[in-house]
Amino acid sequence: MTRPEAHVVAETDRQVTARRLLDSSAQLSYDPAHEVDWDTPLDSAFHGMSPEWSTLFGTAYWDDMTPEQQRELTRQEAASVACTGIWFEMILQQMMLRDFYAKDPTDPAFQWALTEIADECRHSIMFARGAAKLGAPAYRPRRVAVELGRVFKAVASGEAAYAAILVAEEVLDVMQRDWMRDERVVPFVRTINNIHVVEESRHMKFAREETKARLRGAGLVRRQVNALAVAIAAYVIVTNMVNRQVYANAGLDVSRAVREAGANEHHKAMLRSSCAGLMEFLDSAGLLTRPARLVYQRANLI
Ligand SMILES: [Fe+2]
Ligand SMILES: [Fe+2]
Repeated sequence: MTRPEAHVVAETDRQVTARRLLDSSAQLSYDPAHEVDWDTPLDSAFHGMSPEWSTLFGTAYWDDMTPEQQRELTRQEAASVACTGIWFEMILQQMMLRDFYAKDPTDPAFQWALTEIADECRHSIMFARGAAKLGAPAYRPRRVAVELGRVFKAVASGEAAYAAILVAEEVLDVMQRDWMRDERVVPFVRTINNIHVVEESRHMKFAREETKARLRGAGLVRRQVNALAVAIAAYVIVTNMVNRQVYANAGLDVSRAVREAGANEHHKAMLRSSCAGLMEFLDSAGLLTRPARLVYQRANLI
């Protein structure tokens, strides 16, 4: 007769990680519908993000703006970042659903994947309501980015999918950590950022683990191709983070704003420093190939 223990199969590292993430999620998750103060009217005395993260901070144009214009700009920029977040969350939800299609539902990783998708679904609703409360219109990525995303979410798999997820989450994470602690930022946005930072830390853990696991045994060509695909995805995400319409909606001269934002060394330095940890990880995973590095340089992430 077999003893009951004989049926207990030792869990793999991957399953142990997924189970830990599920436990952590059960202990601390948020319902933005109830946690965020949606009712208090927007107070225009606040910024939408830490001003240092504005695409125009540090430029001559920034100094020419009134404090009211600066605050309106950061509110529009925060809304644009939230809209880009929604766009990417829809991409990653679809990639994860495809990845776990018809897989073993008793596997903790399967259950974790569905938990993460549920998180992202709540996040996107939260970002949508947040952007509306900031008084912003629908900011959508450029047409070419929308179409590239449509292809990527339909075909990307394995390490390409999880490393791209990681890149988007890491870039957003560093910004949001600053904003959630910043008393100049409107309180409901700080709550949104806090919720996102807490829940995304689990997503990033999963994305790092999956990236490493899927790369095990990957050949040189596959690594090269996927490293470049991830870098291009990162470029598209970062260059579509702030829609140029934010400048018009903040009452600014769009061509001057676009010109000065494009040459803003302060903003490039903020991006580079925020991606230091991410680049270290990509390097250790073998995804910082020479062509990929060039693309990251173009995107000012390295
Ligand atoms: Fe999210
Ligand atoms: Fe996420």
